Amino acid sequence: MLGVCYYPEHWGMEKVPEDLRQMKDLGIRFVRVGEFAWSRIEPNPGEFSWKWLDAFFDEAHRVGLKVILGTPTATPPKWLVDRYPDILPVDREGRTRRFGSRRHYCFSSPSYRQETQRIVAIIAQRYGQHPALAGWQTDNEYGCHDTVRCFCPRCQEAFREWLRARYSTIENLNAAWGTVFWSQEYRSFEEIELPNVTVTDPNPSHLLDYFRFASDQVREYNRLQVAILRKYSPGRFITHNFMGGFFQFDHFALAEDLDFASWDSYPLGHAEWIMQYRPLEECFFRSGHPDIAALNHDLYRGVGRGRFWVMEQQAGPVQWAPRNYSPAPGMVRLWTLEAFAHGAEVVSYFRWRQVPFAQEQMHSGLLRPDSSKDTGFFEVQQVAREIEKLPLPDMEKSPVALVFDYEAAWFFEIEPLGVGINYLDLVFTFYTALRKLGLDVDIRKPDDDLSGYHLVVVPSLPIFRETLVEHLAPLQSPVVFGPRTGSKTQVFQIPPNLPPGSLQEILPLRVIRVETLGLTPQENVLWKGKTYPVHRLKEWIETELPVLGAFQDGRKAVVARENFFYLAFWPSVEFLLDFFEDLASQKGLSPLRLPEGVRIRRRGNLVFAFNYASEEREIPAPDHATFLLGRRVLPPHDVAVWRETP
Ligand code: GAL
Ligand code: ZN
Repeated sequence: MLGVCYYPEHWGMEKVPEDLRQMKDLGIRFVRVGEFAWSRIEPNPGEFSWKWLDAFFDEAHRVGLKVILGTPTATPPKWLVDRYPDILPVDREGRTRRFGSRRHYCFSSPSYRQETQRIVAIIAQRYGQHPALAGWQTDNEYGCHDTVRCFCPRCQEAFREWLRARYSTIENLNAAWGTVFWSQEYRSFEEIELPNVTVTDPNPSHLLDYFRFASDQVREYNRLQVAILRKYSPGRFITHNFMGGFFQFDHFALAEDLDFASWDSYPLGHAEWIMQYRPLEECFFRSGHPDIAALNHDLYRGVGRGRFWVMEQQAGPVQWAPRNYSPAPGMVRLWTLEAFAHGAEVVSYFRWRQVPFAQEQMHSGLLRPDSSKDTGFFEVQQVAREIEKLPLPDMEKSPVALVFDYEAAWFFEIEPLGVGINYLDLVFTFYTALRKLGLDVDIRKPDDDLSGYHLVVVPSLPIFRETLVEHLAPLQSPVVFGPRTGSKTQVFQIPPNLPPGSLQEILPLRVIRVETLGLTPQENVLWKGKTYPVHRLKEWIETELPVLGAFQDGRKAVVARENFFYLAFWPSVEFLLDFFEDLASQKGLSPLRLPEGVRIRRRGNLVFAFNYASEEREIPAPDHATFLLGRRVLPPHDVAVWRETP
């Protein structure tokens, strides 16, 4: 089903009835509103103006549209911030971030938590039972504009409490953090500050705990809202719109309090920064890289325990990336169908109409500011008709599990050791190789049930909990671990038996040195008679395990014990393609080599093929395939769907 993001407060009630009717005609079923409307709901403290929102709800009900109501807490109004200045967050440099845009609040602020509870309760009581209300979105994009990590006095206070609960005594903390180094020893929890504006690197254990603390604060804050919404609006769903490729808080943990996950998909904008260390090929400028939206769909299906929506779908150019291309004709439709292929329940476009004022005036919508139809509108019209005729079977378990961990992202932030080393890049490399082989992927957290997959890949799990040994050891399928797995203990120290720490029980090897190599290939790995250039990172390992792949200096680069594999380097897509192809074929998975720019995704007995390339491509459908959409030769930016017959 389709939805749209709408801002009645931008347009006045005169336009609403006609807008809603037009949405309905277009095939839209859901409309999200309200997430930034606090100043229009409560223009003065305690003085509410409901007329416009009441009228909107009633009109939506009349027209037959379902509403997702956003709690307006991403934008506390001016009077509120003036009344409680401690709401404002403080940046890494120690500067107060001011009113005048959005997300100007600190998750730890006691006054903001109180005000949040107040406004959420008032709104939930008013609309929680409205017949048009489908469900809630809490806040908007937690963490956007670098707002998870705040360095204000409230956070410092809360962090001390958090540490006290974790370590009980200051001696424990000193030992865990190794504060004897550089005379950092603390005499009490009151002496501990936040790890910013230090002369050089702060203590990494201090940083990791602070990152964990900041993540917990977001979860706690969201929980405050959820508790109130559950109370006043039983039976309606609660979700949050997460961002693509954003890892500063543990989304798996936060989503436990939600009914399902949602995320905001801006494939062109995301491509500009996800591809930081690997130049985006020109052919993808107007389509986005073929694995970017897909990776996030698979991640959020995992975060949402099988259920997710796309709450905001790019429908034309955005205004916030370094370059803001117009999507190639067909891409809005392609992105929509791709989301459904990966299991999205709803795709909701951002936004109904481009607004002629303020920060996002150059961000497109389905309509232009003068209400004429923009190009995205027509693609939505087409796709709305198509999905009506497309029976979507239930999602099934994918053959491959990719194990994803938010702490791993924090580890690589704290200790990259060199240029080009970040968790997203590593995960993206593994994911791309699997997807180029036509393999479908589920993204799971480390302690999820991983049995029943044909292949389990762990790009890296640096903080490797001891309990995972028991969890992973019984797995029968191949399990592939990437570099830096098991690098640290829970408190960010080198494990006593050297990395990979307790993973040694499964894979007896020791990492005796780590080198980083920069972005240009400096090394080669020889595997099965072929040479693969290696850049970024190389580990020196010592092990009795037989060598499967070696560096040019003879050191072991790929080793295995039974079905467990270890890669002692930052692998390239080229290496992983051959490596996974080999493993997958041994497991009867029949991997394919997809043509450049083509991806496929199965949903039940349907196979979807997407052509991200700017030329036509022949897709690998069987001869007798019955096409429900498209055909074997796929024009640029087009989609085919066929039924798989057993
Ligand atoms: C999202 C945000 C929206 C809007 C959009 C523009 O990050 O949730 O409110 O700003 O980006 O692309
Ligand atoms: Zn703060």
